[in-house]
Amino acid sequence: MMNKNVEKSINEQIKKEEFSSRLYLAMAIWCESNGFPGAAEFLYKHADEERVHMLKLVHFVADRGGKAKLMPMNPPEQDYKSLLEVFKEIMKHEEYITASINELYGVALKENEFTTANFLQWYITEQVEEEKLFSTILDKISLVGADKAGMFHIDKELEGMAASKTVPEAGA
Ligand code: FEO
Repeated sequence: MMNKNVEKSINEQIKKEEFSSRLYLAMAIWCESNGFPGAAEFLYKHADEERVHMLKLVHFVADRGGKAKLMPMNPPEQDYKSLLEVFKEIMKHEEYITASINELYGVALKENEFTTANFLQWYITEQVEEEKLFSTILDKISLVGADKAGMFHIDKELEGMAASKTVPEAGA
């Protein structure tokens, strides 16, 4: 049986990953209707990835004899002032998720749940990758400022990144 504190913390993380997916979906919708089709494509895919992050946790809880619970949540922000604001918010959100994963890892260690701690290593590595990716994109957007040609170029770049991204299976 899964330790109750660990189960509760994982369920909170399930909610956060589900929210991440909805947040990026809301941002993708904003990008699509504000002239950034490449950024939209990139964020639609990223929303799918967050859903996989959620599903991996759901399967892990089930495999360990626990019970995954879905929780109510408030809708994400759907209005943004600019693409810069979108990516600033993403960066802030990912830093929050990293802190949350680290906290969850701490709970697993405290409860001597080494299998869970081992499983969470994947998320720790993933967060490093995500923060690196989003800080690179954010730097680029900050650099071009309000320059229209620069923004067009960035949107194209995001489109290329979306095309080369494959969303992994939750069981992988
Ligand atoms: Fe599930 Fe973007 O971290």
